[in-house]
Amino acid sequence: MVEKRPLRLGVIGCGHWGPNHLRVFSELDRSEVLACADTNESRLAQIRQRFPRVSTTADYHDLLDNEEIDAVVIATPTDTHARIAKDALIAGKHVLVEKPICRTSAEASELLTIAESAKRVLMVGHVFVFNNGIRKLKELIQSGELGQIHYLDAIRTNLGPVRGDVNALFDLGTHDITIFNYLLDSTPVEVSAMGRCISQQSIEDVCFATLRYADGTLAHIHVSWMNPRKIRSVTAIGERKMAHWDDVNPDHTLMIYNKGFEEPPYYDSFGEFHYILRNADVHLPAIRRTEPLVNQAEAFLDWVIDGTPCNADAVEGLRVANVLEAATKSIQNNGAFCDVESVSTLVCKEATLPANQVCAPNSDATALKVSRDTHKATS
Ligand SMILES: NC(=O)c1ccc[n+]([C@@H]2O[C@H](COP(=O)([O-])OP(=O)(O)OC[C@H]3O[C@@H](n4cnc5c(N)ncnc54)[C@H](O)[C@@H]3O)[C@@H](O)[C@H]2O)c1
Repeated sequence: MVEKRPLRLGVIGCGHWGPNHLRVFSELDRSEVLACADTNESRLAQIRQRFPRVSTTADYHDLLDNEEIDAVVIATPTDTHARIAKDALIAGKHVLVEKPICRTSAEASELLTIAESAKRVLMVGHVFVFNNGIRKLKELIQSGELGQIHYLDAIRTNLGPVRGDVNALFDLGTHDITIFNYLLDSTPVEVSAMGRCISQQSIEDVCFATLRYADGTLAHIHVSWMNPRKIRSVTAIGERKMAHWDDVNPDHTLMIYNKGFEEPPYYDSFGEFHYILRNADVHLPAIRRTEPLVNQAEAFLDWVIDGTPCNADAVEGLRVANVLEAATKSIQNNGAFCDVESVSTLVCKEATLPANQVCAPNSDATALKVSRDTHKATS
């Protein structure tokens, strides 16, 4: 008989973002949070006050050794993702790791291999592919309403928070790379990027990146945590219509402009040229208001409990890591276009996990009965 109980989670990293995962997974019927880990005791004290039933520890290995816990969410700084996610997968846990999946494509590729060998879910917190406005925009692009996409333009700025481990492109631009890939159902072939270090040495506070896709579509990213205005926007320019998504506009999150150029029979002057602009209605599609983080958590539960994968997987995490790596090279080369390595070549290059580190396959995901015998034998 299949045991029906909520998925039991641990949250690793309880700084600014981790408590949001804690709240969301605690409120859903299909999941509960048993424990949290953070190296910072004051963060743990705040968690105990807000979530008194959740146990806390400074050492994330306590969560990995806890056989009651089926899965972990990793919301620690980017530089720690690879180590913690690897430990968690080897310990037999399903993993939802925050974006970006990790610092390098080699680390991402290794994680992917380990997750596949261990038969554990490895999902990445690409939260904007769970944003209803972005989903609607994709629907419109896929239906052909906008026509062929000529270019995309994303702006993501704010004053802070400043990161000490990764630059603005890793921190903020990751969201836009995932949005572009999702909207275009593709990955860029080359990237040009420039950035400027202002508040710290060697960490760019502002970055401008141009991604070129195989069909010629251009996608531009402007990210900065040193900017007075909070902007979260994507503009899509199609051959038929144009669309603007504005995540900080509570009323008009998505605007579809029936604007463009009409093919004129002829024109003799600039004055006549104006008449051939199509400047028609602006349509505001209704967007269902559900919290993207909740949608993301539901997708993780669908994957772990029902075996339904989602597109915020480790392969997409690796694709994004490849783009970030090419962008880093480009920044070092004064903005020169750099090729983005394709995923298929990278994944195969990595060595497979040593046999004694592979978890027993979780053949009955629905029952959430994760066999940890192999882990116990090796730990
Ligand atoms: N999806 C989103 O929209 C979104 C938003 C914000 C942050 N994030 C991501 O979430 C992650 C965390 O970001 P943040 O803003 O919460 O950072 P933060 O610095 O506020 O919090 C990180 C926490 O991790 C803890 N930590 C560090 N090393 C640890 C370890 N080895 N074991 C246990 N705890 C450890 C720190 O003490 C800190 O409390 C980053 O990857 C970031 O990119 C995602």
